[in-house]
Amino acid sequence: MNQTVTSKDSTNQNMQTKVNVKKLNLWYGNNQALNNISIELQKNKITALIGPSGCGKSTFLRCLNRMNDLITGVNIEGEVIIDNKNIYDKDIDEVSVRKKIGMVFQQPNPFPKSIYENVAYAALKHGIVKKGKTCDELVEKSLIDSGLWNEVKDKLNQPGTSLSGGQQQRLCIARTIAISPEVILMDEPTSALDPISTEKIEALMLELKKKYTIITVTHNMQQAARVADYTAFFHLGELIEHDETENIFINPKVKKTEDYITGRFG
Ligand SMILES: Nc1ncnc2c1ncn2[C@@H]1O[C@H](COP(=O)(O)OP(=O)(O)OP(=O)(O)O)[C@@H](O)[C@H]1O
Ligand SMILES: [Mg+2]
Repeated sequence: MNQTVTSKDSTNQNMQTKVNVKKLNLWYGNNQALNNISIELQKNKITALIGPSGCGKSTFLRCLNRMNDLITGVNIEGEVIIDNKNIYDKDIDEVSVRKKIGMVFQQPNPFPKSIYENVAYAALKHGIVKKGKTCDELVEKSLIDSGLWNEVKDKLNQPGTSLSGGQQQRLCIARTIAISPEVILMDEPTSALDPISTEKIEALMLELKKKYTIITVTHNMQQAARVADYTAFFHLGELIEHDETENIFINPKVKKTEDYITGRFG
């Protein structure tokens, strides 16, 4: 598919493109995993990436913070423009890219450190705060914003891994927002969680989008319908359709999208 797939209301005055992906191609060795993807992702919105297993959702997500650079044999062409700057330009510092674009994974992955240190670690490393009161305040604020503070405020020195899966995922979100990213990438953030923890994360996502631009991968159609402003459907490394979530689910323009969301394949 060669044309740019933009969402219907991208011309709306309230819409602002935060991440502009242009003709992105990616190969793992000889295997092309992303084929000419062009998409504009909107600021302070949640965009859900859906599609069958192996269609390239995680690969695409990892392109947005240059995490694929860490994989050997990867070749990437195209542009990912964030705030008028292509993050693949030669003069770009990858560490600053990953600071600006946080990521939350499928399996909660707290560091083998205390709850406090999980949140403080990157902020200290990036020099955002110094040890002491400002760091304490940042840890508290990040845990409040991730909806975890009340559950952990009396045990900040306990290991992050001592929390439940859902709490660990909120800890990972606290750790991500502690360094004030602009974009948060989430790769199936609730697929390892029970329904109540899932509900908490979804509520949190709706809260977080006020401050951040969120791009999330999900296999759960209901979740996309509940939280996402926009949905992008991928198939075999191609972006098939991108539109307001309601249109994708109620009135898809492409037959393949309809077949997928009605469960005919995938
Ligand atoms: N590190 C890698 N090395 C080589 N090939 C890879 C690598 N990661 C992914 N691929 C291949 O790229 C394609 C897209 O994979 P990707 O993980 O992006 O799919 P996905 O849509 O996230 O799938 P799922 O829903 O199962 O998570 C697949 O064919 C996969 O085998
Ligand atoms: Mg994946």
